[in-house]
Amino acid sequence: MRIISVANQKGGCGKTTLAVNTAATLAKLGNETLLVDLDPQAHATFALGYDKESSERKTSYDIFRAHFDDIEVPYDKIVISNRDKLSFVPANMMLSAAEINLGGVNGAAAILKNTLADPFFDKYEYVVIDSPPSFGFLTLNSMYAADTIVVPIDLSYFSFNGVNSVYRVTSLLKAETGKEPAIYFVMNIYDQRSNFAKKLVIDAKKRIGPYLLPTKIRSSVRLRESSMLGKTIFEYDSKCSAALDFYNFTSELLNVGEQKKDDVFVKEFVLAAPKAGAVYVLGDFNGWRKLETNRLTKLENGEWSAHFTMDKGLYRYKFLVDDKWICDPKNLKTERNVFGTVDSVLEI
Ligand SMILES: Nc1ncnc2c1ncn2[C@@H]1O[C@H](COP(=O)(O)OP(=O)(O)OP(=O)(O)O)[C@@H](O)[C@H]1O
Ligand SMILES: [Mg+2]
Repeated sequence: MRIISVANQKGGCGKTTLAVNTAATLAKLGNETLLVDLDPQAHATFALGYDKESSERKTSYDIFRAHFDDIEVPYDKIVISNRDKLSFVPANMMLSAAEINLGGVNGAAAILKNTLADPFFDKYEYVVIDSPPSFGFLTLNSMYAADTIVVPIDLSYFSFNGVNSVYRVTSLLKAETGKEPAIYFVMNIYDQRSNFAKKLVIDAKKRIGPYLLPTKIRSSVRLRESSMLGKTIFEYDSKCSAALDFYNFTSELLNVGEQKKDDVFVKEFVLAAPKAGAVYVLGDFNGWRKLETNRLTKLENGEWSAHFTMDKGLYRYKFLVDDKWICDPKNLKTERNVFGTVDSVLEI
């Protein structure tokens, strides 16, 4: 069984549409597939044509409730199987209660992973999980269960905050559990006529390199309509451009597998600057350009952080903190530059 989590804390970047239609493509390709809606907004539930308000139906909330109340979950009551090869665990609002209650529970991040390890789920070749737009315990459950995390990036530089958070959460998970899922990114809701979109792809490639999958999911009215009507793109219009994009994207995802690339490394740059308004990391690896993609994300502890995918090599870099250049205080290796000041030097 391969488990794919779709996650990005940025709202509206197309997680649900991607999760639903990736699951639908996997099923269409002949795989027994299970889609799990792990978002209290229950948009995937709605997008598959179920009334999200129905309170009698068992939902993904019951997976967590069973854990709190220490009762057996009737898995066959949670899973809806009325489509060919595509089964589904719906969600409802009650999941927000799980999000709140999970805070103090031991092993809270592993509840979904442990549930999917039950022999009942052995029949599924693929599980796709839709996550909420936040990095609480539900997303942690989604990411911890996963072998592969897919991060959709829409046409906004805010999506890059999500990139950073996904890397941070996975390194936390790795530190706690030793498990490290593969992370891939996909340009989503892509408008091919827009110059801004083209520029964003170039910037995204610089930042996340080979982990950005080549296929872009283009902006498609058919896709929007299909989820409003509670249908997958194949049920609505199997010949439209979005259906083709999903075939290509899903095939790519299956081909890249869970392999790690040996010759590229993901490096985190961190700087403590609690009072700063904006922090960039600029260096040889990103052309020293003050772009939004090279901006660090502020963390709750006053640190700023950004992850970059880098080839092996020697790089000079500096932080730009509110337009003031500073060297990396955590890196003692420096070299003089042509301006008579010093740069931090990093060897990968
Ligand atoms: N490729 C696309 N082309 C056109 N519209 C799209 C595409 N993908 C998603 N959308 C539309 O964008 C909106 C947001 O998509 P979606 O609900 O999938 O995002 P999300 O990341 O799951 O949102 P949230 O963060 O609230 O969970 C929806 O109206 C959806 O129909
Ligand atoms: Mg969603």
